[in-house]
Amino acid sequence: MTLALRTSGHLAADRRYDYARGAAAEGDHAAAADLLEQTLEIAPTWAPAWFALGEAREALGARDAAVQAFAQALAHEPEDSQGARLRLARLGAHDMPAQPPQAYVRDLFDQYAARFETHLVKDLLYRAPAILRDAVLGHRGPDARFVHALDLGCGTGLMAREIAAHCARMDGCDLSPAMVAKARASGLYGRAETADLIDFLKSYEARSIDLVLAADVFVYCGDLAAIFAAVARIVVPGALFVFSLQRAEKGTYQLGEDLRYAHARSYVGALAEAHGFAIAACDDVSVRQDRGQPVPGLCVVLVAP
Ligand SMILES: C[S@@+](CC[C@H](N)C(=O)[O-])C[C@H]1O[C@@H](n2cnc3c(N)ncnc32)[C@H](O)[C@@H]1O
Repeated sequence: MTLALRTSGHLAADRRYDYARGAAAEGDHAAAADLLEQTLEIAPTWAPAWFALGEAREALGARDAAVQAFAQALAHEPEDSQGARLRLARLGAHDMPAQPPQAYVRDLFDQYAARFETHLVKDLLYRAPAILRDAVLGHRGPDARFVHALDLGCGTGLMAREIAAHCARMDGCDLSPAMVAKARASGLYGRAETADLIDFLKSYEARSIDLVLAADVFVYCGDLAAIFAAVARIVVPGALFVFSLQRAEKGTYQLGEDLRYAHARSYVGALAEAHGFAIAACDDVSVRQDRGQPVPGLCVVLVAP
């Protein structure tokens, strides 16, 4: 939750909200909904209480009432750092957003940054950076050298740890300042910027980059067309564009129950063709687990024209 949203400005409302969160954490969603309705009587425009009420009502199976609460959350916080649009889309009450709200991704990973590596790598068996490294070296050989690599959505810098030894220079960007602070502290990036990846790509000269990586990032980017166009502009002929995806079995891309986007192989193929990239690999992989099960994904290696 962004700093500005952390309190309603009313002590009694904040207290009821805290009790409601406690009840929800214990699975008592009826008590949570009741406490949140009381919270909103005191602080009727406080978006976090509306959002939490949406979650409680959704857990109770009250779909229409949940939609109403998420819609209120969005109306009272249009920046949407809580991701109400995604919840509404998942409930079928809003078109699927082509991108998640930037404020939502930023806050999600700002809150996650401190425990990202232990939780993701140890608990969810996260392997995207190692899978991408193997894909790059599998294509170019174990002694591959790159002049200037970019790591889109670099997070804490796990990708650089895998591949920086093969790159004369590696720059990265991430929407989350807390993630970028960790990436900078790794000392592995020439430049590590807090930026949306498309803005970051646009900051490079045409035909200046020979490796672009995105490990488990496009799950937070639905429509990839603008990303492909921005990468195509800055890569040198023969450059590699290597990324992981969550796999959709049909269509183009879709928002999943887990609020992450999945992309179809045919969608990637169409974008690659539109920008002249050759598909060197588009392999079935799983980069992490969800509730003990491998999440189906793709590892894609494209070669620039
Ligand atoms: C699951 S993490 C992966 C981080 C890193 N690539 C790794 O493998 O450890 C996804 C990262 O993508 C970043 N991200 C998502 N959408 C982004 C965007 N449009 N621009 C820049 N960063 C983005 C998030 O902030 C988050 O740090």
